[in-house]
Amino acid sequence: GLPARVRIHEVGPRDGLQNEKTLVPVAVKAEFIRRLAEAGLTTVEATSFVHPKWVPQLADAEELMPLLEDTPARLPVLVPNKRGLERALALGARDVAVFASVTESFARANLNRSVDEVLEMFEPVVAEARAAGAGVRGYLSMCFGDPWEGAVPVSQTVSVARRLMDMGCAELSLGDTIGVATPGHVLELLSALSEAGVPATKLAVHFHDTYGQALANTLTALQYGVTCVDASAGGLGGCPYAKSATGNLATEDLVWMLDGLGIETGVDLRRLAATSEWMARHLGRPSPSRTVRALAPK
Ligand code: HMG
Ligand code: MG
Repeated sequence: GLPARVRIHEVGPRDGLQNEKTLVPVAVKAEFIRRLAEAGLTTVEATSFVHPKWVPQLADAEELMPLLEDTPARLPVLVPNKRGLERALALGARDVAVFASVTESFARANLNRSVDEVLEMFEPVVAEARAAGAGVRGYLSMCFGDPWEGAVPVSQTVSVARRLMDMGCAELSLGDTIGVATPGHVLELLSALSEAGVPATKLAVHFHDTYGQALANTLTALQYGVTCVDASAGGLGGCPYAKSATGNLATEDLVWMLDGLGIETGVDLRRLAATSEWMARHLGRPSPSRTVRALAPK
């Protein structure tokens, strides 16, 4: 069966804008996030506290956070290490996410470390975040395939998932960073995870839409019991450290499907699409989302 309600974890301001060549002014980012929250999104990933040289698009995290104080949504932020966590907590972040890689190549490209070294780096970050009362999500990248290594064995993803769970992450997000997953693979991974003691109720799915499979993959995950789905407004996004990554599943495409299925999200689709159109004008290129285009005033 399908869930009655799905929580959308909006990643446009972070996963989307981190990959845009245009540097978006901080006031525009703040307005984007506020408009997303007003469209009914209850979780909006706001930014990352990473090294500013690695992701210059998000180097304004310190200026952005104070502009978001009255935003009616949870605003998780990415933190790669203790330095990142300190910066985030100093600005009042209440939800953080660490981001591991399932493959050695991407661990190296994204965090300059091996898979094991990344997990070791996260251990004190997760412990300290929890001690500070913050919610902690753990991302897993390259769960379905890697641009350098090709196919990724399910067992490799299961092992990183177990370690993030044991570390104390409350929720794990399964990243299809380059968008190569197909529904059979999703089913295989979810069932291997549940056999290993990682139930669907602890999971979110994070599909990029490179091959147009993100919605089919999402529906498969919902049928398996997943109720949290990552998506990015207007389909913004990608990853600067993974060649061939394109934008995330567009939030509008997701909401169109969920509305049609009678699954509650709390999101006002037209208001959301208008926000993505507004952002597309700032970025100077049309949204790749089919739903945003279909709903656009003619
Ligand atoms: P490193 O070069 O190994 O850094 O990078 P280090 O630990 O050796 O430190 C070097 C210097 O950086 C030091 O300064 C540190 O203080 C400073 P120095 O002593 O030389 O003056 N530093 C920092 N400064 C500010 N904030 C920090 C920080 N940490 C160290 N947090 C590092 C390691 C983790 C910093 C780097 O690799 C990094 O920032 N990586 C971020 C990459 C990233 O953000 N990628 C995109 C997000 S992941 C993604 O998009 C996938 C996802 O969407 C899911 C999916 O689709 O799969 C989540
Ligand atoms: Mg991503």
